[in-house]
Amino acid sequence: MPSRPVWRTRSTPPTQYVSDNVSFLDRAFVILGRVLDAARSTSAAAPPEVAELAPLRAALSQSRLEYVVQQIPRSIEQSVDGLARIASIVGALKEFSHPSSAQKEPVDLAHAIETTVTVARGEWKYVADIDIECDREMDPVPAYRQELSQVVLNILVNAAHAIGEARHDGADGKGHIRITCRREGEFAVVCITDNGAGIPAEIRERIFDPFFTTKPVGKGTGQGLAIAYDTIVEKHGGRIEVESEVGVGTTFVIHLPYAAQRVAA
Ligand SMILES: Nc1ncnc2c1ncn2[C@@H]1O[C@H](COP(=O)(O)OP(=O)(O)O)[C@@H](O)[C@H]1O
Ligand SMILES: [Mg+2]
Repeated sequence: MPSRPVWRTRSTPPTQYVSDNVSFLDRAFVILGRVLDAARSTSAAAPPEVAELAPLRAALSQSRLEYVVQQIPRSIEQSVDGLARIASIVGALKEFSHPSSAQKEPVDLAHAIETTVTVARGEWKYVADIDIECDREMDPVPAYRQELSQVVLNILVNAAHAIGEARHDGADGKGHIRITCRREGEFAVVCITDNGAGIPAEIRERIFDPFFTTKPVGKGTGQGLAIAYDTIVEKHGGRIEVESEVGVGTTFVIHLPYAAQRVAA
């Protein structure tokens, strides 16, 4: 017997009651399937002239019945997958937008990066695939979590733009973004590599300047890397460096110190 569907209540999160109802439908369909099988064998076993069975036979010979019986489990399965995706995006969004404390806190970099990549999916999914290779065992690094996620987001969006530029917005197939993080001595090191258009040598010195952009109005504000520099260098006492080759791609390398930084007087 399937458990009852769960109706909306104020306290149940919507993804939860939708999931509960879909699993109810999944189990309920198994029961209805048994009834259908029983009806089929009854109809097949009874002599054709039994008049009382005429409506049942007519219903069973409905041309779309077979299709419906096949499609219901598939459609439920896809709904379950979709709901799992929605739940993970909602979780990531909540976490991403949760205000950080005014203090540094121990940040699990691998987790923060995964959350940011999930939240920013709409920015990269048409132009690139992303690989994340993070050392899950690395010690949490003292950081302003939300500001750090914003830096990863800014660099990720730039990577997607650079790939879009090199590949005509995905028309020439997808590019690739690779994010790694690991501990190296007294630093947590994050590398974000794209195989996009690359940065010409003559502008490489200026990319961290506030308002420097090579993008059309509406796409670029020139603030992304200025914010990244301020966050990493000024607020965390770390380093942010870029390696790039036109036509090959770009890597941003971030070093974040483990040791508490002295604030300049
Ligand atoms: N991954 C990258 N590949 C190529 N160029 C980049 C990349 N990241 C940044 N840039 C260059 O640096 C400039 C400044 O970046 P940013 O400060 O984020 O401003 P915006 O993205 O608004 O232009 C960009 O306009 C672009 O020319
Ligand atoms: Mg940018």
